[in-house]
Amino acid sequence: MKIIFLNGPNLNLLGTREPDIYGQTTLAQIEKSVTERAAMLEAQVEFRQSNLEGELVTWIQQARERFDVLVLNAAAYTHTSIAIRDAVAASGLPTIEVHLSNIHAREKFRHQSLIAPVCCGQIVGFGPLSYLLAIEAAVSLIAKK
Ligand code: DQA
Repeated sequence: MKIIFLNGPNLNLLGTREPDIYGQTTLAQIEKSVTERAAMLEAQVEFRQSNLEGELVTWIQQARERFDVLVLNAAAYTHTSIAIRDAVAASGLPTIEVHLSNIHAREKFRHQSLIAPVCCGQIVGFGPLSYLLAIEAAVSLIAKK
């Protein structure tokens, strides 16, 4: 099973970015723990980050060919990007939306996810654990297929 993790803008700054909200764990550390957990479940993962909306759209389009599940933290694009939503819908890939913070408990503009309606589910608010829970969800989605 192959899972692709795509991360949107400013997530490259994790560790130093607003640590009271996002914690002190870097994206590289999250990638390491995700890769280790995936290996235990006999899954392969690829992990990418981009600050560019169009690049994320291209990666989602390409993921269709090579992966079984997409785990997506579109960061701020979650709340604004019809293009990313359309790419997820067009890909037909089972997609799990993740967020470190609980977007529903924050500013009003973060309460809406344009991506959620085209995802299988949403995992929010558990910090880096959100990503590990997404692997469990991905494995279970594939098992049900
Ligand atoms: C985020 C939540 C978004 O609202 C925000 O723009 C981010 C990070 C999260 O993981 O908590 O950049 O996606």
